[in-house]
Amino acid sequence: MPLQSQTWRNLRQLLSELPRRRLRLLVFVLLASLLQGLVDVFLVALLARLVGLIAGARVEDYLPGIRVFGGGLLDQSGWLVGLLIAAFWLASTIRFGVSLMQSLLCADVWNDFVNKVYGNLVCQKYDFFVRQRTANLSERFNRILNGISTGVISPLLLIAGNLVSVVALLVGVVIVLGFKALAMFVLILCAYVLASKVITPYLRLASKQRIRYTRRINLLLMESLRSMREVQLYSAEKYFVTRFSRDGLIAKRYDRIDRLLPDVPRLVIEPAAITVLFLVGLVPALALGDAEAVRSAIPSLAAVLVGMLRISAPLQAMFRSVNRLRGGLPQIEDALGLLSLRPVRYLIDSPGVPTPEGVMPRRFIQLKNVSFMYDPDANQVIQDINLTVPIGSRIALVGRTGSGKSTLAHLLLGLFQPTSGELLLDGIAVTDQEVPAWQANCAFVPQSIRLIDGSIRDNVAFGCDPEDVDDDLVWSALEAAQFDDYVSGMAYGLYTLIGENGIKLSGGQRQRLSLARAFFRGAKVLVLDEATSALDNKTENDVMQALDIVGRRCTTVVIAHRLSTVKKCDLIYEIEAGRIVASGDFASLCDSSPSFREMALIEEG
Ligand SMILES: Nc1ncnc2c1ncn2[C@@H]1O[C@H](COP(=O)(O)OP(=O)(O)OP(=O)(O)O)[C@@H](O)[C@H]1O
Ligand SMILES: [Mg+2]
Repeated sequence: MPLQSQTWRNLRQLLSELPRRRLRLLVFVLLASLLQGLVDVFLVALLARLVGLIAGARVEDYLPGIRVFGGGLLDQSGWLVGLLIAAFWLASTIRFGVSLMQSLLCADVWNDFVNKVYGNLVCQKYDFFVRQRTANLSERFNRILNGISTGVISPLLLIAGNLVSVVALLVGVVIVLGFKALAMFVLILCAYVLASKVITPYLRLASKQRIRYTRRINLLLMESLRSMREVQLYSAEKYFVTRFSRDGLIAKRYDRIDRLLPDVPRLVIEPAAITVLFLVGLVPALALGDAEAVRSAIPSLAAVLVGMLRISAPLQAMFRSVNRLRGGLPQIEDALGLLSLRPVRYLIDSPGVPTPEGVMPRRFIQLKNVSFMYDPDANQVIQDINLTVPIGSRIALVGRTGSGKSTLAHLLLGLFQPTSGELLLDGIAVTDQEVPAWQANCAFVPQSIRLIDGSIRDNVAFGCDPEDVDDDLVWSALEAAQFDDYVSGMAYGLYTLIGENGIKLSGGQRQRLSLARAFFRGAKVLVLDEATSALDNKTENDVMQALDIVGRRCTTVVIAHRLSTVKKCDLIYEIEAGRIVASGDFASLCDSSPSFREMALIEEG
């Protein structure tokens, strides 16, 4: 298989990412494969002797010290059959051991890669994920790493192991049976290569079609299940089922052909080789009626036959592996892309990161001359903003949809880095090293809530070890979020499971759970982005009252469309198209800002 130098380089780079101890294990696997080949040779030699014995050919061998193959027919065949049985058991045991080691090594290598990539992925800055679209990233992550494992690492291991076995068997065959037998084997090998060449284009086509149609039916299934409401309302069931069954049949047929084709060389070559073997080795003697020649040819013919049967399995495995490797190689580049990610974010326990108390400001949090854009070639979303949040106060950000409020919240939390300008705590710029400490002081209820598929308790005490969680603290957080009554009414209380992303909860319940998560953290800075928008007026009022109590020890930034939510705030910033257009308390804004007054009037009706 011609490998381009770039592919080689990529492959070498991929393997260099592995820890050294994996390479040691690889050497061990190769040694075991060598042993497997040698046992096969032993087996072939023994069988030749046994057949020779039965055919009446003279057997001369002695094992050192013990007169093994002497004696009568019974004596000799007893020894030979015993050894043969032992050799078959040994060969199978070694074969199983080699396969087991190969599988374990493959699993370890997969684990090495996944841990490395996942470990580095979580140490990327938040904007990396915002730009990547996370759904895509997780799909890529799985596809590439599984592809590398089954399409590169496992075939490479199989090729290497089987190559060693085949070579050992060939060398052994030369020693035991001489060069004539080797010529026969080389012929078989060439036939294999030729047959593989003939089959490869068909195999490639089948595998391409299989991937194409499998992707199609997966997409069809996913889309239809996701939009089941629309499917039912538009009576589209038949449309989807027909397409699914049509494409599914094609996909499965190609899948089966794809699996079957690699076996074809073996199916053709085995009978062909046996035919040639007997035609060349036996037919001339048979034709001449020379019984002695037939008798003396039989042992070596039998040995070649067994040798061929022993060699065809590893050859077959190699052929399969080469094809899989061919399909897997293009993915190496993608995997290297993932593996080349380096951790760029400090973690709270990284060396040099200060304590949360060390960075907590005493006077104010500030965004100074801050501008921000999501993409280098997109418009500025935040334009030269100066915003101050005095410690202990409750401030609000209001403004029309799309004006940049959520983006500002992310900037305050250090989740995004300003394109220009800086985040200051007591007038001092926050460095990358201080960001995790600053974030440990903050709690955030985002506008689009993400819940984990676990219990209420898991969600409130997010990221904490379940063993260490104090249930009383969970209950008081739920109480502050006005969610305790509902949870205590559930059959399993705190241990009630909420489904994927909280699917079993209503919008308002999910919001209250998210609030409880923020309250549980006992943070000093609380940022609520439309955190009460899905609650009815009464519940929202209760939450805001609870916030008054929590708020006594908290600096709070509230983002809300409903102005009643922000009425009690000390300071309100009105944002429009990424700029602050007015600020002040509720009454003064009503006086000074016509747009704010308009919003207030509309709400009052
Ligand atoms: N991930 C993103 N990638 C690119 N642009 C974005 C992204 N998120 C937001 N924007 C853009 O940034 C601008 C401000 O968005 P932002 O979410 O901050 O608005 P908002 O004031 O919170 O609006 P809303 O009241 O609807 O929540 C919008 O024009 C939006 O299109
Ligand atoms: Mg928003």
